[in-house]
Amino acid sequence: MEQWVVNKEEDYKDIMPEVAEFIVSSKIVLLNGEMGSGKTTFVRHLNQFLGADQASSPTFSIVNQYQYDNGIINHFDLYRLERADELSEIGFEEYLESGNLCLIEWPALGKNYYPENTIIIEFSIIDKSTRKLVLNSNIFK
Ligand SMILES: Nc1ncnc2c1ncn2[C@@H]1O[C@H](COP(=O)(O)OP(=O)(O)O)[C@@H](O)[C@H]1O
Ligand SMILES: [Mg+2]
Repeated sequence: MEQWVVNKEEDYKDIMPEVAEFIVSSKIVLLNGEMGSGKTTFVRHLNQFLGADQASSPTFSIVNQYQYDNGIINHFDLYRLERADELSEIGFEEYLESGNLCLIEWPALGKNYYPENTIIIEFSIIDKSTRKLVLNSNIFK
């Protein structure tokens, strides 16, 4: 388990080199936490660090794709899906098997699809400008 306290958004530039290393090596990353806890904001700062296209919330599109030097980032938000069979309609498994980075907000519906190397980051709100990130590398624990 790793954890970081982000006192303000600008602090992401200090912690992102370390966090990004976990993300890039595991490839499949679940982003858990209540609305407003900073999941989408985290992806924006990660993209900035990796030199990828500007991230936005995929709440309505379900998945956004961004380009960067090392390939493609798939950014999901499963909030609006209601049934697991909607995941096969969008080709969720193929995205996960593509070898590209997959970042997944509201990941619970996809639980049967996640491989063993998946990591999870739990976001929590400490106060208006402070967030806590807890990273676990075994999602099945
Ligand atoms: N330290 C911080 N880290 C991330 N977001 C923060 C932080 N402080 C304040 N915020 C604000 O909290 C909100 C997080 O929203 P968002 O990233 O869309 O959350 P989620 O995707 O988890 O619903 C944004 O308005 C952001 O500006
Ligand atoms: Mg979001």
